Amino acid sequence: MKKIALVTGGTRGIGSAISRALNDAGYLVAANYQSGVENAEKFRDETKISAFSWDVSDYKSCESGIKEVCRVLGGTIDILVNNAGVTRDCMLHKMRLEDWTKVITTNLNSVFNMCRLVIQSMREKNFGRIVNISSVNGLKGQVGQSNYSAAKAGIIGFTKALALESASKGITVNAIAPGYISTNMTEAIPDDIKENIRKGIPVGRFGCVDEVANSVLFLVDEKSSFITGTVLNVNGGQYL
Ligand code: CAA
Repeated sequence: MKKIALVTGGTRGIGSAISRALNDAGYLVAANYQSGVENAEKFRDETKISAFSWDVSDYKSCESGIKEVCRVLGGTIDILVNNAGVTRDCMLHKMRLEDWTKVITTNLNSVFNMCRLVIQSMREKNFGRIVNISSVNGLKGQVGQSNYSAAKAGIIGFTKALALESASKGITVNAIAPGYISTNMTEAIPDDIKENIRKGIPVGRFGCVDEVANSVLFLVDEKSSFITGTVLNVNGGQYL
């Protein structure tokens, strides 16, 4: 029977590449999204992957969303990829409380919500793969990203703790820390700053979404069962 994989923020950017890669590798995939209905419909038409809309920062929405995914796909979640994330870049001395709250609830509380809601069935099955998408900036910090860096660093602590709790239950929990990847999110960085960032990447370019998706495939593989609690850097050689 095909394993069921759920990808949050799975119809755009890195998430879309992850959903497609898992689908191509033979998993039964559900892609979550919140906004961008038009984009989600296009994604659905192109890939034939089921797409489900809910807000991952809201526990109750996650509860009903996951229930619906399980009903439609006919089983419980074997693989969870927590990818959904937003930025509200701003120097702290100008940051509004809502910029902080939005990033923490979407990028970090969502990881609690989703994991809390799938962990019991994984424990019962004695199998599970959880991959949390962190960031290079959760490891090293970034100007204008006190909110984002805090959330992405929080994901790493969460990942390590849950990995310990789940190790005896056949569940691996890992994080990926992508560096700068070409997506709409990095497109929004001012050109001069972007060029400075590029110069700091030893490979000499921003990464591609498929390069992150490929590392997800590796971590969710059944044969990757001895890798848990780790952070895999996919960043073009940036020294941390
Ligand atoms: N490294 C070092 N210094 C930086 C910097 C950087 N990456 N970015 C900005 N600065 C400096 C500026 O040079 C400036 O310094 P001075 O005051 O000495 O002149 C100071 O920080 C303030 O910068 P701005 O004048 O640009 O201030 P602003 O308020 O107009 O804008 C900002 C601030 C919104 C943070 C803007 O600088 C910016 O967008 N920076 C890029 C932030 C970034 O890298 N975001 C990543 C988004 S992609 C992502 O998050 C995905 C992922 O996981 C990697």
